[in-house]
Amino acid sequence: MFGASSTADESRGTITYRHLLSPQTLNVHNPLRVVALIDSDAFYAACEQVRLGLDPTLPIAVQQWQGLIAINYPARAFGITRMMSVTEAKKKCPSLIAVHVMTYKDGAREPGYWPDAKPSTHKVSLDHYRRESIKVLRVFQATLPTAEIERASIDEAFFDLSAPVREEILRRYPYLAQVPADAPDGVDSALPPAPAIDWAGKGYVLPVSEEGAEGEQDTWADVALSIGAEMVDRVRQAVKKQLGYTTSAGIARNKTMAKLCASCKKPFGQTILRAAAIPLYLRPMPFQKIRFLGGKLGDAIASAYDAKTIGDLLSVSREDMQKQFGEEAGWVWDILRGMEFAEVKERTGVKSMMASKNVRPAIKTFADGQHWLRVLSSELALRLEEARDVTPNVWPKTLVLHIRQGFDPPRSRQCPFPYTNSLSEEHIARVGERLLRELVGQGERLHKEIINISLGFSGLEQGEQGQKSIEGFFGGGEPQAKRRRTGTTPAPDIELLASTSNSASASNSPAPATPKRKNLAHRCPRCSKLLQTSAGEEGAQDAQLAQLKAEHEDFHFALDLQAADGPLEPDPPPAREESQEAPRRKKKRKEPKEEGIAAYFQKR
Ligand code: CTP
Ligand code: CA
Ligand code: CA
Repeated sequence: MFGASSTADESRGTITYRHLLSPQTLNVHNPLRVVALIDSDAFYAACEQVRLGLDPTLPIAVQQWQGLIAINYPARAFGITRMMSVTEAKKKCPSLIAVHVMTYKDGAREPGYWPDAKPSTHKVSLDHYRRESIKVLRVFQATLPTAEIERASIDEAFFDLSAPVREEILRRYPYLAQVPADAPDGVDSALPPAPAIDWAGKGYVLPVSEEGAEGEQDTWADVALSIGAEMVDRVRQAVKKQLGYTTSAGIARNKTMAKLCASCKKPFGQTILRAAAIPLYLRPMPFQKIRFLGGKLGDAIASAYDAKTIGDLLSVSREDMQKQFGEEAGWVWDILRGMEFAEVKERTGVKSMMASKNVRPAIKTFADGQHWLRVLSSELALRLEEARDVTPNVWPKTLVLHIRQGFDPPRSRQCPFPYTNSLSEEHIARVGERLLRELVGQGERLHKEIINISLGFSGLEQGEQGQKSIEGFFGGGEPQAKRRRTGTTPAPDIELLASTSNSASASNSPAPATPKRKNLAHRCPRCSKLLQTSAGEEGAQDAQLAQLKAEHEDFHFALDLQAADGPLEPDPPPAREESQEAPRRKKKRKEPKEEGIAAYFQKR
């Protein structure tokens, strides 16, 4: 998120031959950069419509128990929203086709469309939507093989189209391939004036001014966007033709702008945001709508400047913002002006997967817990197997268990996930049970009942053929895992590492032979970060390490929750946890401890 920060808006400056021709300039600062976001319309509802071969003009909703999780556009026309129950929705539209999402039922290995699905006995499965999502991704890749594609959630992906667009510009305007002999600054000379663009058929072009009087000369950056728009249209038509899904898209110069304008013309529409149109588009927008400004940082900015819209903040200087919110707040100043330099990270696989269940009735005994762990494990086993079909040898680094007990803050435990040749539900469940034991202790009756249980894999990475690189998967966590596996008493969480303490030797003791005090340290098995206490009393160090560990675990927990496939929207509608790729609620953190802007993000 905090990629290279800029000081100048390069995208409004002169566009030169170097920007078009030099391989080194094919980067996030290039004024000819083209980024798109494609999002599927009413995705789960569309999946059901296609699966059942229904007429797309019929009103269709996807139901989870009594609630609705997706509503297609014909049903939205009746005023049906995600907040409604099936009964309310049918009052508004008696002909509504409500399809219940797939579920796992006890005893069945595969999820199905069971007619008697109940929360007490069944568990929601999104498998069908995930599979369809991968199919959509394959069409993206096949249609635009030279674009960078970052899968951002189950139904959306970012594209960096800069490379294919550059190629196409040179194909259409071959005279740009040579710097003219009389160009005053050589390769740093401005390109000749751009041709006028015919936008017909390329999508909705956001206006530069309210009057619609354009007047401004089209730039090469606009030409780049128009070519990008043609490519995006081609991909979207391919998805529609091959799979039957309609999508909507935004085409702009960076991810945040593409994401913002992608929903302007839903369903089945695309929107282009040119540099010159950014001020008019952004000014009236509530600034908390922007990715990453929906949370605490946004609230703090709102009260610091008594601001609601982006326009309200434009008079704040970069320096002032950085003084109030830290160096990195330069990123906020940039984004208010439509500038952002985050990369589209090629990511077309899955990084994590989480199976989650709101348990009704609640889990009261360890045996109840084991039962649901088996259900969750069988889902994970199936999903990992499927992921391995798509990405051979992919294997998770870590198994994570989260539980919620009453209104207590959620708690979690994780451990490295041992490799096995015969992946089974039992294998996962056994490791899960050990984690559950660590969380709830030894008794059969739990002290406090569990109302949500989630089991997930994280750090999914592709291993080498035959898992030769197995050690690589375990990193620093392996010895700990072994101890846990063999230990009869709960394994110690804390690794004692002999470390040299600078602060200890600074304690007025000149003798080099003074035994250095040991600091307690723990290496996180998930990210290998070394957590270390400062020198101090032994008892105090234990407490300090426990505190550091708890904070660090919270950090991973928060990351897991917002994991790979979470939504990009800052404030998604109330989450229905178990129907999601990964739970979407965000962990509430204590008061930020970090300085500056970092305090507003879980970034440690
Ligand atoms: N989803 C969900 N719970 C949420 C948000 C989204 O289950 N709190 C699911 C929806 O069922 C949806 C999919 O995730 O089909 C993608 O979400 P999103 O793109 O936000 O909505 P769509 O239903 O696709 O509708 P739109 O056309 O507005 O994108
Ligand atoms: Ca969508
Ligand atoms: Ca989406």
